[in-house]
Amino acid sequence: MNVIHPQLDIKEIPAHKGQFLVGNTLQFTRDPLQFLSGLQRQYERIVKTRLVGRDIYVLLHPDDAKHVLQENNRNYRKSESYRVLGLFLGNGLLNSEGDFWRRQRRLAQPAFYKQRLALLAETMVAEGQELVNRWSKTKAGKPVNVSVDIMEVTLSIVTKALFGADVKHQLRGISESLNTIIEFANETLTSFVRIPLRYPTPRNLAFKRSVQRVEGIIYEIIESRRRELSTQPDIDHEDLLDMLLRAHDEETGEGMTDQQLRDEVTTIFMAGHETTAVAMSWALYLLAQNPEIARQLRQEVLDVVGTTELPGYGHVRELKYTMQVVQEVMRLYPPAWVISRRSLGPDSFGEYAVDTNAYVLVCPYLLHRDPARWAFPNAFHPDHFLPERIRERHPYAYIPFGGGPRLCIGNNFALMEMQLLLAILVRQFDFSLATAHQEVHPHASVTLRPKGELLLNVTPV
Ligand code: HEM
Repeated sequence: MNVIHPQLDIKEIPAHKGQFLVGNTLQFTRDPLQFLSGLQRQYERIVKTRLVGRDIYVLLHPDDAKHVLQENNRNYRKSESYRVLGLFLGNGLLNSEGDFWRRQRRLAQPAFYKQRLALLAETMVAEGQELVNRWSKTKAGKPVNVSVDIMEVTLSIVTKALFGADVKHQLRGISESLNTIIEFANETLTSFVRIPLRYPTPRNLAFKRSVQRVEGIIYEIIESRRRELSTQPDIDHEDLLDMLLRAHDEETGEGMTDQQLRDEVTTIFMAGHETTAVAMSWALYLLAQNPEIARQLRQEVLDVVGTTELPGYGHVRELKYTMQVVQEVMRLYPPAWVISRRSLGPDSFGEYAVDTNAYVLVCPYLLHRDPARWAFPNAFHPDHFLPERIRERHPYAYIPFGGGPRLCIGNNFALMEMQLLLAILVRQFDFSLATAHQEVHPHASVTLRPKGELLLNVTPV
């Protein structure tokens, strides 16, 4: 409920008119991006909507995104949507809060330091090269479902790089299970009626089976490392799993329980591959539509890396245009398209005030296409990320990795992975749409995936 504040300078937050009982839910679930973009056109700073039985405040200004995520972050916790993800992810880094989250973040952070990332580049390149080999054997004229192949590559990279485990022979099964889990979370988030997991509906059963399948693999990874650690304690893989396994509470001396390890590993496993894969799929789609940008990108790779050498960590800083392309892809299609929070106490956004327990949405998709801040809001224009353009822009106009203390822990990992994969792929292949004028729309689920199959012709150059 909105409070009427006695101060004269407090204004009532504009409310978007909805339907009796359901509010704006139907419009939102039909096409969330279209609905939210409509709000952006009609309102200036903040608007109240009613979604799935709740008042939700959509924040449209980067100052307010900064306020929630950074300046006043202690007044916010993650909203209920994260709890649905928690059915699978448990109390890992993405979902945990307070001192517990701070401790876990401190423990995991060193695995993402620059020196560590330098070592992980080799794994990324090796996996990218395998994809090159696979695509090189594609029959001429037979389009490739690029999203599926890319998803397997990023999954393989994250498990090898952070947990030292090779899950290649299980990739298809894992990908399918993760798809079921994501769709379950999405449907649960957008429906009024939630049937508790204890009831054996087909949906609930499919979800549980998928969780068990992925959990089985995760427990195997943890168990095999525990065994190795108990017989050869001096071996140091210096990866994330090592850090988590060796971590001890300063006061009690206790290590992490299997449940906690499971939650952290599952979180990284999921957060660390789905988002990157989605961004890479959009990158190939946009390059297929923009051959001149693809040509410029290939030229940079040839100039910096050459024709025979494999790209590596040493090239990353010099692949500047490649980085601009990566950033522009995530501007148009931010994999984490919405970030939601709930207020712990009252707060205000300029002359607008919200109460305790207010749900607020920060929407990277809207901020990234705000005509007030981008020269070509809906076009693919990597020059948006020339250094001088970046300098003159509001820092929260572009937030694909969120912001403040809950900033994505894997942001540099993901950026490097995308730069290296793109460099390897564009050097070898031309990408074109499988059918002329094929338009692929985004499906705003837990991440912003391409809707349906993303079929591209992958032609060796
Ligand atoms: C293009 C790729 C990626 C995007 C767009 C992305 C986006 C995000 C965003 C927006 C958040 C903040 C969520 C919030 O504030 O509620 C986040 C958090 C997180 N991300 Fe990423 N991410 C990406 C890749 C990765 C990778 C590669 C990893 C790990 C290897 C990872 C692990 C995490 C974790 C663990 C968190 C929770 C951090 C915390 O709260 O301490 N992400 N990510």
